[in-house]
Amino acid sequence: MLFVMTPELTLSDPEWTLADIVTDCWRRLGNGASDPRMPFHFPVLATQGVAQMGPAIPAARIVVLRDANAARRELVLYTDRRAMKIAEITAAPRVTLVFYDPADRLQLRVVAHVRLHIDDARADVAWAACSPASRRVYQAQRCPGVTIDSAFAWAAPRSIETPYPGGLENDSSDNNGRENFAALVCSPMSLDWLELSEPIHRRAVFQWVGDKFMGRWVVP
Ligand SMILES: Cc1cc2nc3c(=O)[nH]c(=O)nc-3n(C[C@H](O)[C@H](O)[C@H](O)COP(=O)(O)O)c2cc1C
Repeated sequence: MLFVMTPELTLSDPEWTLADIVTDCWRRLGNGASDPRMPFHFPVLATQGVAQMGPAIPAARIVVLRDANAARRELVLYTDRRAMKIAEITAAPRVTLVFYDPADRLQLRVVAHVRLHIDDARADVAWAACSPASRRVYQAQRCPGVTIDSAFAWAAPRSIETPYPGGLENDSSDNNGRENFAALVCSPMSLDWLELSEPIHRRAVFQWVGDKFMGRWVVP
């Protein structure tokens, strides 16, 4: 039997439509969430800083993308509820996530509204999905950012003895640290997609207005 293969569209294909780009964004986000080797696994999460001693400074840090669900339009992150970003998100529940794929020289900026899940069923589900090694970081007695006497003075002694999953660490029934755990569920409001390919660059922006989704090409 003869199969006629339609060639897959590649990113550099000039025929790509705005809809193709959105599909590709969710594909990359899904891959990033499920595979630590994929470039979208480690986005930068930017928040609006809160004024402390001086004026508010924009805050940004690397996080792990834990889940990406196109149908529900959700990106999920995990964090420590005592971290500074929680105070920032509580004050202003909008963030920007920046993803970068160096091989394709592709930047995706996602502006999202964030829902904080701490003491609820959604956080329980996320906690259950955490590996024992991930849970360890939430077991620190002191808040993230607090000054300590030496580098490992925050960790339980057994964490240092068995630094990676295995043995004692591999006990997923260990709920120690659950009280410090938070899931951040980000609902994208807009996407800004930029591809710096040669010979010509492309940029497109997309916005959700209610359930409606609109995209347009813009000057890179
Ligand atoms: C590779 C890598 C992955 C990280 N993943 C996370 C993460 O998933 N969640 C998180 O809260 N912090 C993560 N961090 C730590 C943050 O970058 C940051 O240092 C920490 O959350 C404190 O940030 P804050 O004080 O702004 O809240 C990660 C850091 C690195 C280097």
